[in-house]
Amino acid sequence: MSVLSTPSPAGSSPRRHELAGRVVVLIGGGSGIGLRVAHQAAAAGAKVVLGGRTPEKLAAAAREVGEAATWQTVDVTDPRSIESFFSACDRVDHVFTTAASYRVGPMLKLDDADAASPFTSKFWGQYHVAKCAAPLLPPDGSLVLMSGAAGARPPAPAPAYAACNAAIEGLGRGLAVELAPIRVNVISPGTVDGNLWAQRPAHERDASFTQYRNDTLLHQLGTEDEIAHGVLFLFTNGYMTGSTIYPDGGYTLR
Ligand SMILES: NC(=O)c1ccc[n+]([C@@H]2O[C@H](COP(=O)([O-])OP(=O)(O)OC[C@H]3O[C@@H](n4cnc5c(N)ncnc54)[C@H](OP(=O)(O)O)[C@@H]3O)[C@@H](O)[C@H]2O)c1
Repeated sequence: MSVLSTPSPAGSSPRRHELAGRVVVLIGGGSGIGLRVAHQAAAAGAKVVLGGRTPEKLAAAAREVGEAATWQTVDVTDPRSIESFFSACDRVDHVFTTAASYRVGPMLKLDDADAASPFTSKFWGQYHVAKCAAPLLPPDGSLVLMSGAAGARPPAPAPAYAACNAAIEGLGRGLAVELAPIRVNVISPGTVDGNLWAQRPAHERDASFTQYRNDTLLHQLGTEDEIAHGVLFLFTNGYMTGSTIYPDGGYTLR
């Protein structure tokens, strides 16, 4: 008998929250990791709502996902835009936010506005998304926050960006305490060979990819689907809250 088919003692089966019939909001879901979460959640029977700033991109992404998907524009740097986005949502069961736009670099080279940009966009953006989504979430709903491996192991001088990711992991723990039984978790991926890096100059991308492969235990980049798979795990495992998972090929350990 396989481990999976071994009967559980009465009352000990895991609390699973199936995605069938649920509504999953993906802010940043018009591309990259968020779009792969949309595909996986739709395949599991969920409805998905895609958010972002560019209507054409969102419409194309929704067409790609199929009839399970709808979309609305939102800018996570504007709290009123986030309020208006959620006021148009009839139902919300799970939320994941990849939306962020920021500059990174050394403290001695960046001006203060650029140094603050990861906080403005990625930290406060997700904070305001959580604030607007929380009153709509059912007790078995969940939030997944996006961090990044640079928070635990900065690959290059970018201290404000590293601090922002570490702060998001703290935010996840703090929100898990405040919002229980709604579950709040964080995903902190390593470098992913996907849409984000495809937009960057080839020489910068190649150098970062080579460094990342050398610096991980698995000598591989991540894929958007591998990160999306981790997000679905956090949506559906009813005993996960206040945790950060690190799909990074062993980068932070190494
Ligand atoms: N890819 C990686 O290697 C990696 C690794 C670790 C962490 N991360 C984190 O993952 C997130 C990026 O996700 P991704 O890799 O899937 O990149 P992506 O494909 O660029 O996705 C980001 C999405 O967010 C939207 N967006 C950007 N700024 C926004 C704003 N102010 N308001 C609303 N939407 C906004 C973008 O669309 P519009 O521009 O049309 O709005 C885009 O669709 C970032 O937080 C990044 O730090 C990525």
